[in-house]
Amino acid sequence: MGKFERHIFICGNQRQLDNPRGSCDPSGNGELYKAFKQKLTERQIPGTRVRANKSGCLEQCEHGPTVVVYPDAVWYGRVTLADVDKIIDSHMVGGTPVAELVLPDACINTPSCEHKRRK
Ligand code: FES
Ligand SMILES: [Zn+2]
Repeated sequence: MGKFERHIFICGNQRQLDNPRGSCDPSGNGELYKAFKQKLTERQIPGTRVRANKSGCLEQCEHGPTVVVYPDAVWYGRVTLADVDKIIDSHMVGGTPVAELVLPDACINTPSCEHKRRK
């Protein structure tokens, strides 16, 4: 069996609603993760090729719900259920990331990101 081509890590972290950092899955239902799994199955993309993984906090909470695709290192922010089709079809099938959902490099791990919540 060959290696995985891609992993999709979907943040499923749940924090209390009053937590100032927010979280990517406040309901804790894992709906986004389930939608990715379902869509991969529908598209008949084998789990040995592309794997969707529910992850803990990816430390980009201010851009959440956050999804990252490796080995591409493409970060998606504010991903909704309505975006799953696009990400699977364009990126996983076609190899082209969905530009309008990609987080700019300036947003990743930078203290100066304009989206950081003010203290
Ligand atoms: S809670 Fe999802 S990135 Fe932190
Ligand atoms: Zn940002």
